[in-house]
Amino acid sequence: MESIPGPGAWIYSKIVAHSPFIKDLYGAVAEEVSSKFAAGKMLDIGTGPGMVPLEIARKSKALEIYAIDISHAMVEIANKNAREAGISERAHFHYGSAEKIPFEKDYFDLVITTLSFHHWAKPEDCLKEVSRVLKENGELWIYEMKHEPTEENRNELKRRYGPFLSFMVLNFVRAHSSIGFAKIQEVQSYKNLGFRETGVEDKGMFVKLSLRK
Ligand SMILES: C[S@@+](CC[C@H](N)C(=O)[O-])C[C@H]1O[C@@H](n2cnc3c(N)ncnc32)[C@H](O)[C@@H]1O
Repeated sequence: MESIPGPGAWIYSKIVAHSPFIKDLYGAVAEEVSSKFAAGKMLDIGTGPGMVPLEIARKSKALEIYAIDISHAMVEIANKNAREAGISERAHFHYGSAEKIPFEKDYFDLVITTLSFHHWAKPEDCLKEVSRVLKENGELWIYEMKHEPTEENRNELKRRYGPFLSFMVLNFVRAHSSIGFAKIQEVQSYKNLGFRETGVEDKGMFVKLSLRK
């Protein structure tokens, strides 16, 4: 399933707003973005309820933030969250797909996507699109859960979040919400899609793929 429909969007927004595991990811992503990009334009693809842009807007006051999602229900929730957080003027949420990004070429300094890439039906077409909207030297950061967490990752997860939440997270990971070694390697070979550098960072239960135009 690529887009998350109405009721699913509402349930997802409630779960992530209360999950310490996911909130820690959002905080870490916002920290990385704000420490490297104090200003400029960024896009979050598959933003869902918009929690990552909200965190970033709190930290980077001069960054112009845009976000898209192919679920109308998610865009509505994200806009409501932005209004309530008082950041609607700096974070803009629109309907849109990674397959046809509704922005002109060479527009963004940074594109990020958290827990969405594994949903993309045509990842290669989407990456070409991301390259099109990035400025020269611009970066794409993809954050996903690891499909094959190590024993050490699983122990650390239990230690930090307790047995119940760890059980839930590991079930999501096994079911689908993650990417495996094979996919990570495939993305690294995507240099011909408009990226000249690719890199992978191990972040415990998560993995970050970086691609530079
Ligand atoms: C698991 S949610 C992640 C939401 C948010 N990024 C987060 O970290 O909580 C995946 C989101 O990706 C969106 N999505 C899936 N395929 C997409 C595509 N091709 N273009 C844009 N959004 C997409 C879905 O509608 C959904 O809102």
